[in-house]
Amino acid sequence: MSRFLDERYSSLAPYTPGEQPQDRGYVKLNTNESPFPPSPAVIAALSREESEKLNLYSDPEARVLVRAIARRFTACLEGEGRKGISERQVFAGNGSDEVLAFAFAAFAGKERGVAFPEIGYGFYPVFAEFFSLPFRTVPMKADLSVDAAGFKGLKETVVIANPNAQTGIYLPLSEIETIVSEDKDRLVIIDEAYCDFGGESAATLIGDYDNLLVVQTMSKSRQLAGGRVGYAIASEEIIADLDRMKFSFNPYNLNRLSIVAGAAAIGDEEYFKETTALVAAERERLKGEFAALGFSFTPSLANFLLVKKDSIPGERLYLALKEKGVLVRWLGGALSDYVRITVGSAAQNDLLLAAVREVIKEISQ
Ligand SMILES: Cc1ncc(COP(=O)(O)O)c(C=O)c1O
Repeated sequence: MSRFLDERYSSLAPYTPGEQPQDRGYVKLNTNESPFPPSPAVIAALSREESEKLNLYSDPEARVLVRAIARRFTACLEGEGRKGISERQVFAGNGSDEVLAFAFAAFAGKERGVAFPEIGYGFYPVFAEFFSLPFRTVPMKADLSVDAAGFKGLKETVVIANPNAQTGIYLPLSEIETIVSEDKDRLVIIDEAYCDFGGESAATLIGDYDNLLVVQTMSKSRQLAGGRVGYAIASEEIIADLDRMKFSFNPYNLNRLSIVAGAAAIGDEEYFKETTALVAAERERLKGEFAALGFSFTPSLANFLLVKKDSIPGERLYLALKEKGVLVRWLGGALSDYVRITVGSAAQNDLLLAAVREVIKEISQ
């Protein structure tokens, strides 16, 4: 730490991203990326022509992307007989981390603060510290699911990852609606990074509630983790507030290539459905295999499983798998008995299972 760092940040504990080792080829199942390449439409959109325009600034309003997102959600919502969303109800960011950072900065404040479940996305307390916001954590239920009733009466801005970022457990939309509807003067942010693998999006509630902000990412279900594209959907007023933040900080927050890649990714519904269905099917296969190997796990609806086996401490399993070239995530803390494993392709999952079997054998010898 240099002597120039402001005192406010001297005790800041930064977020630790999952390892991205470059030393050897791993079966990489630690950061919940998609095992599939981006849609062919994305590859086509990243044309030489677009690259040759990199000397010019990107569109600060990311219109091509925002339009594609509004169109996609409108098609889904109208398909359910609901009102669609306009382009003015969409905000695009450099990954959903940036969207969440703007939302924390804009909507929490030193007086109001922010409340989130005790187990969730590890970035929430870091954002709170970074923006000097008081925060409260709401205890989980005994089965590690989010306790919706625990938010009743709280005045803080609420942030919930649904499905949960560590357990994968999905809180039914009816419970989300209860949290949103019980205090219309409290903003509720639903972070749906993992919603596309089996959950139902709270975007269906946007037309009914102007105190709801839904955040999604293209990092998990749309093969663009390296493209850094996230977005939010809410009332026009909330989106205007997020724009105010963005235009006061980094107007060109999305680069040219990410804008066209994101628009192409959200435009390819067929590829999206096919790849998310494959991941969901592999997740269910893995549940069966892990159960047969004597593991227990949370009922994840995300693209990962949180698993544990009484005879193998979580950290030991993580290290043993790493040695065998399979990278999973040991989250430590309240979940130190577990490891979190991203659902990979069928071939990756077979390698994972083979490595797990070897570890079990070695430990029992
Ligand atoms: C719950 C949750 N929200 C947001 C993010 C951030 O995703 P990104 O910034 O890649 O869009 C993650 C990443 O793992 C996550 O788990």
